[in-house]
Amino acid sequence: MQKQLVLVLILLVSTVFAAQILKRTKDKTTSKLIKDHGYPAEDHRIETEDGNVLQAFRIPYSHKLQNQNKTRPIVLLQHGLMSSSDIWVLSGPDNALAYLLADSGFDVWIGNNRGNEYSLELKEPSWNFSWHEIGLYDISAMIDYALKTNGQGQKSIHYVGHSQGTTVFFTLMSLRPEYNQKIKTSHMLSPVAIMKNTKNECVVSAANFYTADGMLTSFNRDTKFLNIFRSKSNTFNERCVFLMDCYNMDKKLHSEHANKTAIKEADKISADGSWNQVLHYLFNHKSGYFRQFDYDSKKNLEVYKSKQPPEYPVEKITSEVHLWYVDNDDLVDPVDVLALADRLPNKVLHHIQEPIFGHADYTIHNDIRKYVNDPVINIMHKYELDKEK
Ligand SMILES: *[C@@H]1O[C@H](CO)[C@@H](O)[C@H](O)[C@H]1NC(C)=O
Ligand SMILES: *[C@@H]1O[C@H](CO)[C@@H](O)[C@H](O)[C@H]1NC(C)=O
Ligand SMILES: *[C@@H]1O[C@H](CO)[C@@H](O)[C@H](O)[C@H]1NC(C)=O
Repeated sequence: MQKQLVLVLILLVSTVFAAQILKRTKDKTTSKLIKDHGYPAEDHRIETEDGNVLQAFRIPYSHKLQNQNKTRPIVLLQHGLMSSSDIWVLSGPDNALAYLLADSGFDVWIGNNRGNEYSLELKEPSWNFSWHEIGLYDISAMIDYALKTNGQGQKSIHYVGHSQGTTVFFTLMSLRPEYNQKIKTSHMLSPVAIMKNTKNECVVSAANFYTADGMLTSFNRDTKFLNIFRSKSNTFNERCVFLMDCYNMDKKLHSEHANKTAIKEADKISADGSWNQVLHYLFNHKSGYFRQFDYDSKKNLEVYKSKQPPEYPVEKITSEVHLWYVDNDDLVDPVDVLALADRLPNKVLHHIQEPIFGHADYTIHNDIRKYVNDPVINIMHKYELDKEK
């Protein structure tokens, strides 16, 4: 108990100080970064059905192909937890997926979920959401908006998600299965659903502190999450996260084969979000299930009519799901990926054979073209060619 109290105090103090210290200097939005490389870029405001506003970016065509009047199949890219649309462009036109897709003839949409640095027009109470709501309302809104705005009568899109960008896809497609018809192919880069075998020390130790009924959880629930894990020179944060083996968690998620220049830029993404997103993952790790948010047994009864939250019915995901995974990702264990795959009716497994590959490398590994981007684009091309036949 005493240990918990001390932790609460440290967290309180560090949250206040973190806000001051973690001011990152960033002068370019995703669309500015894109324009700097000569590509056309657009900014879009997208409203969700539950009253939040998201910002999405778009590379509508490639200036190299001059294909603005051709059919350009839509693809939506969705970032992970504590990240943003920037992550899809940081390794530049020769390597980053967004550019490669544009140069392959696609209409490229790059999403931002509610509460990240680009999507801060939040409905009150602001931080009362998890990735559950991001999946149900943000991803559906972005899909529908892209279909409408593309203006070429397309009925479905290709989807690529990284990390939380996969969780939100599983959430939407299992609970609103009619959305599966709007998916041509989907690519789950490091799929996060079942987390039973997650080895990451931060997740494992934090999951012991933050239980659904626990005091720490009640203190943080429905509040903003400041990414204290990313700070380098803050002693308050250092002490706090040291207790939970979370110090510099970001760094540990990259392998030595990640693009160093891109990492430097990725560090500038102000990685905020809601505590409920983090808690929801911790609860799932602890329970071993991919299931809805665990309030506490009393509120669960009210909301779900059962003491335990229900599992996401992933069996209902009928769209074509490609699961991309590696052996040494300490957040996403291959055992959990295979357990999920067992339940998906329409999946293709892609076990990437590269031992030096971290969870955060899927967008900025030095060989990302070889392992992920080129094969993903080939699968999309093949789908489009088969359709024409
Ligand atoms: C695209 O179509 C518009 C309107 O018909 C035309 O003015 C323009 O020159 C075309 N651009 C290309 C690159 O074909
Ligand atoms: C690494 O990132 C930089 C820009 O951040 C880019 O210019 C370079 O091509 C990238 N290299 C690889 C191998 O991804
Ligand atoms: C937060 O959202 C949940 C689920 O939508 C709801 O049950 C709860 O009452 C909300 N809390 C607040 C403080 O509005």
